[in-house]
Amino acid sequence: MTAVPGGATGLDDRSRASSSPFPSPTTDPTTAPGGTPMYTLTDVTKTYRQGTRTVTALSGVDLEIPAGQMVAIQGPTGGGKSTLLQMLGALDRPTSGTVRLGDDDLSAAGDRALTAARARRIGFVFQGFNLIPTLTAAENVETAFADGSVPRDERRRRSAEALASVGLGDRADHRPAELSGGQQQRVAVARALVTEPAVLLADEPTGALDEATRDEIMDLLEAAWRERGLTLVIVTHDSSVARRAERRLHLEDGQVREVEAAGQPRG
Ligand SMILES: Nc1ncnc2c1ncn2[C@@H]1O[C@H](COP(=O)(O)OP(=O)(O)O)[C@@H](O)[C@H]1O
Ligand SMILES: [Mg+2]
Repeated sequence: MTAVPGGATGLDDRSRASSSPFPSPTTDPTTAPGGTPMYTLTDVTKTYRQGTRTVTALSGVDLEIPAGQMVAIQGPTGGGKSTLLQMLGALDRPTSGTVRLGDDDLSAAGDRALTAARARRIGFVFQGFNLIPTLTAAENVETAFADGSVPRDERRRRSAEALASVGLGDRADHRPAELSGGQQQRVAVARALVTEPAVLLADEPTGALDEATRDEIMDLLEAAWRERGLTLVIVTHDSSVARRAERRLHLEDGQVREVEAAGQPRG
């Protein structure tokens, strides 16, 4: 990925309204150029103000995630897992340090650049599904194309395909309240994947599901990872979920450490 002309880094669009600072990848989006890792975090610190207190959610995190890796992140509540996922997901910037997605410095990017990165390169799945209750399953999936760059017919066709790919082709017209928890999470997975992102970030994706449904959703995420060459990062409390990953990280007190490799390489 190259920087666009017109700025020192080409990325900080806070003061400009030019064309997208993160152009669509012209090559396979799942492989960063020249063996660049998908993510490179350098000395990343994130603090929040809580009233008069300052809380350190991430403390000097150094982390590389190669393109195509499946990573599980575990650790106690309040350890910084969701904060880390927000940094990876271009939802927020660190207080200090750098977060690179491929060659792009998300920590120095403006809001438009972060929005573009999220829309084109990153899919999200959350514990609470985060579906819009008044929209049908198909309409929920279509919301992934929020930037309007994809024509309506194509949005519809791809959303229908995505729902079929998660086994919900016959539920396209159902609203979330008419679906089970597992089915709602399948809709959320379809929404996350319909734009064909390079990265899928999941924050406790099975936390609200029973064990059988948990395993179904994990099968789905793992199949997507294998088949699409995704970089998949899953935050989980559940060791049976984490064991399925190629790499396991433990995050506590804002600091990351590696857990022994236990998982299975992509076949
Ligand atoms: N938006 C926020 N405002 C203030 N404090 C926050 C915010 N988000 C997270 N925190 C604090 O940062 C720390 C890490 O939180 P979080 O990343 O949610 O941890 P985890 O996901 O591992 O439970 C906690 O102390 C939490 O209270
Ligand atoms: Mg969390």
